[in-house]
Amino acid sequence: MVSIIVAASTNNVIGRNNQLIWHLPNDLSFFKNTTWGSVVIMGRKTFESVNKALPGRINIVITKQPQWKADNVITAKNLNDSLEKAKATNCKEIFVIGGGEIYKECFSTTDRIYLTRVHAQIEGDTFFPPIDDKEWTLVSNKDFKADDRNAYDHSIQIWDRKIKSDNQ
Ligand SMILES: NC(=O)c1ccc[n+]([C@@H]2O[C@H](COP(=O)([O-])OP(=O)(O)OC[C@H]3O[C@@H](n4cnc5c(N)ncnc54)[C@H](OP(=O)(O)O)[C@@H]3O)[C@@H](O)[C@H]2O)c1
Repeated sequence: MVSIIVAASTNNVIGRNNQLIWHLPNDLSFFKNTTWGSVVIMGRKTFESVNKALPGRINIVITKQPQWKADNVITAKNLNDSLEKAKATNCKEIFVIGGGEIYKECFSTTDRIYLTRVHAQIEGDTFFPPIDDKEWTLVSNKDFKADDRNAYDHSIQIWDRKIKSDNQ
């Protein structure tokens, strides 16, 4: 199964100047626990914003640059190549972890979205596609209030596609 995992503001912003905008340790723990032991697929710019392979996961980075490489990373020349390499690992769930370009490319062929909705209007330059509730069902929602560690109210949600794609 191929899933997206993303954190997006109310106005669907996910990043600015090739960085995450908010510090939400609650979301970071959710991300780590959910993706641990699996394959994560990301665009080259997202990799460079983190600048190291995520531990405990197989990291696949998509780039058009044939010479590009990084420690503990498998490179892929496009989304399909990354999915083939991910499926070859026999992992149960494959996570597409961003950023904007890669989410856009895989949005129509993904059946599950793990979404942390950050309840704020935020300025940014990178966006997540809107989730249309005619096409997606909210199957789980947990609300969290801002506190001294997490700057914004946020909800951790799971959305499933109503009519499954044949990509899984
Ligand atoms: N809030 C969240 O959950 C979240 C998650 C992840 C990232 N982000 C944010 O998103 C932003 C980065 O997103 P982005 O859209 O700028 O970049 P991105 O999607 O991370 O990476 C784009 C790069 O991926 C490669 N690529 C994309 N499509 C390709 C294709 N079809 N074939 C081959 N290579 C392809 C290209 O690399 P080359 O140029 O090397 O060819 C392209 O420049 C940052 O601000 C980051 O913090 C947010």
